[in-house]
Amino acid sequence: MRRIAVIPGDGVGPEVVDLGLRVLEAAAAVAGETGFHYETVTFPWGSDFYLENGAMMPPDALDQLAAFDAIYFGAVGSRDVPDDVTLWGLRLRIVQGFDQAISLRPAKLLPGIRGPLAGRRPDDIDVIVVRENTEGEYSGVGGFAHGGTPGEIAMQTTVYTRACISRTARYAFELARTRDARRVTSVTKSNASLHASVLWDRVVAEVGEDYPDVALESLLVDAAAARLILDPGSIDVVVASNLHGDVLSDVTGALAGSLGMAPSANLHLDGRFPSMFEPVHGSALDIVGQGIANPVGAILSAAMMLEELGAPTAAARITGAVAQTCARGICTPDVGGSATSGEVTDAIVAALDVVET
Ligand code: NAD
Ligand code: IPM
Ligand code: MN
Repeated sequence: MRRIAVIPGDGVGPEVVDLGLRVLEAAAAVAGETGFHYETVTFPWGSDFYLENGAMMPPDALDQLAAFDAIYFGAVGSRDVPDDVTLWGLRLRIVQGFDQAISLRPAKLLPGIRGPLAGRRPDDIDVIVVRENTEGEYSGVGGFAHGGTPGEIAMQTTVYTRACISRTARYAFELARTRDARRVTSVTKSNASLHASVLWDRVVAEVGEDYPDVALESLLVDAAAARLILDPGSIDVVVASNLHGDVLSDVTGALAGSLGMAPSANLHLDGRFPSMFEPVHGSALDIVGQGIANPVGAILSAAMMLEELGAPTAAARITGAVAQTCARGICTPDVGGSATSGEVTDAIVAALDVVET
């Protein structure tokens, strides 16, 4: 019996998590013969919890979560609590506390989805971002001084270690080996960031020597952003620092039609802690409560979770059902459709039974 902790969070988080869980339940039922059994426990942590309790989650939250096999997460971010409080109090605390080393963010343009680039077909857009997830610009090192005076300063320090860059690069090269293109694009800003990016470039090149069958290309992040728009077919696996990976994965999500399409996995690699699965998008406060949030990112995140939990057939059933539903034009307004979140989910659930795995 697998145990999944569910943290719906804020904004559209609870809406899409609820729909993702419906698909998960249906996929597990179809997959019954393959023996995927699970239970969920939902935690009410987020901005409302903060307003009531003064903290985004209880002090022993990580101890509670450590007992689970995986975490299924919605989003956090609210108008009533500052973003640095919400994100550092919940999502980033889990990611860093559980050493979720890699944020894996695939983006594919599915048949039936209207992408933003003229003349690009699904085959042209199939990218996966391997985002370093615990260090870099997100290490939390820095501080304020001389608060409120004209000389007030803020320092934000990027921290990279060889060990961390190395494990991120190795993950990307191994992943590239499983894909047809066998190409890794390493993204940095080594013309300006003359310490962290320079170490990154050096370590990635060293790791790359162990993978002579994978082509390695190094791009500056500004050029990489442009290449993703102008020639997305030339990019396969992107490996990037925490901040660069964050920005580029919104670009790749948009290339797949909408941020609402993009799933992600925050992967712990050493088996000591659970990994966490969540859509790439945030709390989308501008559309909350309207029933139009695209549930696909959350649903595909549930498929990534099944894959990690050792249920690849059920995972493939979900990705197949999503593809079939998009191909039939059943999608939310952000990708040009007129279906509600619930209607898209109903169609995906119905397709689970008929899709081939
Ligand atoms: P956002 O991802 O919430 O929204 C950006 C745009 O994409 C909005 O126009 C939104 O309507 C649209 N969008 C997002 N998800 C969608 C979906 N499922 N279906 C249709 N459209 C969708 O980013 P933002 O507006 O920059 O951030 C809002 C809040 O979320 C902020 O507080 C931010 O810090 C937080 N945030 C949290 C996470 C997370 O918890 N993982 C991720 C990103 C942003
Ligand atoms: C994401 C988000 C988060 C990140 C923020 C909300 C801290 O943008 O998951 O992409 O940058 O990690
Ligand atoms: Mn982001």
